[in-house]
Amino acid sequence: MERTFIALKPDIVRRGLIGEITKKLENKGYKIIAMKMIHVNEDIASQHYAEHVGKPFYPGLVKFITNAPIIAMVLQGENVIESVRKFFGKTNPQDAEDGSIRSDYAQITRYNSVHASDSPQSAEREIAIYFKPEEICENWKTTYEIMSEEIGE
Ligand SMILES: Nc1ncnc2c1ncn2[C@@H]1O[C@H](COP(=O)(O)OP(=O)(O)O)[C@@H](O)[C@H]1O
Ligand SMILES: [Mg+2]
Repeated sequence: MERTFIALKPDIVRRGLIGEITKKLENKGYKIIAMKMIHVNEDIASQHYAEHVGKPFYPGLVKFITNAPIIAMVLQGENVIESVRKFFGKTNPQDAEDGSIRSDYAQITRYNSVHASDSPQSAEREIAIYFKPEEICENWKTTYEIMSEEIGE
């Protein structure tokens, strides 16, 4: 089953919207299998955003992501990587689809509220940066999973 790493960024935490966004993830039916608050430092930021080190926006990105804590999560489900990317919307909130999180909660690219892994390789790498294996709760089932077992394909 596919897993993805997501984060509620410092703008969400500072505005008191942790519960609101988490509720939307739960309403959609995403299975959260790990979650914690962490105040990212420059070292973790450079690991997370390794592909962006040296780009013009990188110094500002580090200042932003280290500015206040984030809420880090792992979600698990079929096609969850692509599904959450769509749910969150395009990187620039002004291009994000109506109803997506970035469209509803953000105005500019730097403060775009949420992060989600963009591929299975990124997901595996990012999950390992933020979570130890024992912090991931895999041994339980959601109502959807039980229903799927009962009903089948
Ligand atoms: N041109 C930019 N100006 C400011 N911040 C940017 C810019 N491009 C990207 N960022 C920030 O860096 C993060 C990582 O960029 P990227 O991987 O391209 O987007 P995504 O988060 O959608 O995967 C973005 O979510 C955003 O916070
Ligand atoms: Mg990215």
